[in-house]
Amino acid sequence: MKCCIVTLGCQMNQSDSERVRSVIEGMGYEMTDNEEEASLIGVVACSVRQKAIDKVYSKIHKWNQWKNSRPLVTFVSGCILPADEVKFLKLFDLVFRMNELPELPEMLQQCGVATEYAARHLLDGIERLDERTDFWQVDPIYSSSFEAYVPIQNGCDKFCSYCAVPYTRGREVSRASEDILAEVRRLVEAGVKSITLLGQNVNSYGLDRKGEEISFAELLRKVGEIGNACEQEFWVYFTSPHPRDMTRDVIEAIADYKCLAKQIHLPVQSGDEKLLRRMNRNHSIDAYMKIVDDIRELLPTATIFTDIIVGFSGETDEQLQSTAKLMEQVGFNMAYIAKYSPRVGARSARWEDDVSPQQKSERLAILAEIMKRSSLAHNMGMVGQTFRVLVDGADKRFDGALTGRTEGKLPVRILDAPEGLIGTFQNIEITSAAELSLAGKIA
Ligand code: SAH
Ligand code: SF4
Ligand code: F3S
Repeated sequence: MKCCIVTLGCQMNQSDSERVRSVIEGMGYEMTDNEEEASLIGVVACSVRQKAIDKVYSKIHKWNQWKNSRPLVTFVSGCILPADEVKFLKLFDLVFRMNELPELPEMLQQCGVATEYAARHLLDGIERLDERTDFWQVDPIYSSSFEAYVPIQNGCDKFCSYCAVPYTRGREVSRASEDILAEVRRLVEAGVKSITLLGQNVNSYGLDRKGEEISFAELLRKVGEIGNACEQEFWVYFTSPHPRDMTRDVIEAIADYKCLAKQIHLPVQSGDEKLLRRMNRNHSIDAYMKIVDDIRELLPTATIFTDIIVGFSGETDEQLQSTAKLMEQVGFNMAYIAKYSPRVGARSARWEDDVSPQQKSERLAILAEIMKRSSLAHNMGMVGQTFRVLVDGADKRFDGALTGRTEGKLPVRILDAPEGLIGTFQNIEITSAAELSLAGKIA
């Protein structure tokens, strides 16, 4: 019995997939990457961008055809808008919400999935899962031995006007800090080198349980203490924070602990004051720049990443220029630039999507150019210096080379290095720099 899980969303989605996998393996399934040999296929999808949803449709049509020639059960979960959910109900055997994950074995059994083997294990499984209050209690099966995601918070209360997340994942809920810290401790003991604390709004952590739960800055400090108390070397990241809750004490905490990685992902979405208001981001450009100044002051080596949307409803050429200016000012190390697409349910879906697809592409190209320039300028300054790098894989595009990332998450091609180094930290001397990447050799 084989199961294939297809993940089509962000890191949050990948993290969810690790928990789905755990439940399914608990039913006696073996995992496969090959859809063709699976008798159970699941999709963990994302409704935030139309692209991922289109992919789900093309896949499910293919799988439903396969059903004519062999037994196959399909399910879908993840971050799905109710409107998409209704359509998926007709196409998939099972549609479930992530918080129903503990009941997945039972739901699959009702779809006729459970074999004798699974049924036997199911009973123990259900008994065990019944005690579990939510899906965070499901222990994930991590997909890497040295990098792990730890969810700390789920959902979003911010309601940015373009965004589907508040409707796909519901309100902000913080996971208990003792559970988070226990998971981090377990991962560190297992020798994991990179841990990412995940949530749609990580720095709103604790705000839904004020007085009962610690704040995000306090959580970071406790994670920092785990690093101080052991010999192991590891880096802890978090994503994504919202500028509105990015208080100075968060940046101070990162500065105070070695294991808290000096890399900040701070989505800005637009550099125009009026557009930011229309997006309901609830902060000014000045407030954003103040955070950038704090980062530069307290974390001088930190890299800064961002998310930007081009072609939002009503965006003018001048407004795009304000974003270009902000990018020049900050000098981002990485910017994930997305073309705006209206999402059913989000407030902006009622506004005209008046920037043409061609204009969106042109605007994206303008910003991508700035991005490449500022990244190159930064990376050139690294040439000749030696950096700690976490080696993370074989370089698919360059024989004999490995890939890795600096603490600031800048990708490095490591020339002439043996595969045995994957999953370890190495000192790498940077020998050349390009737009968005670096190359080097073992120092
Ligand atoms: N919580 C994070 C982002 C989650 S969604 C934050 O507040 O920044 C991830 C990214 O998808 C967003 O940062 C945004 O850049 C992009 N995105 C969200 N909705 C979008 C839409 N309707 N069209 C295009 N990009 C979108
Ligand atoms: Fe979406 Fe805004 Fe919430 Fe981020 S903060 S998940 S962009 S609504
Ligand atoms: Fe991520 Fe998409 Fe969900 S962006 S949080 S997978 S809605």
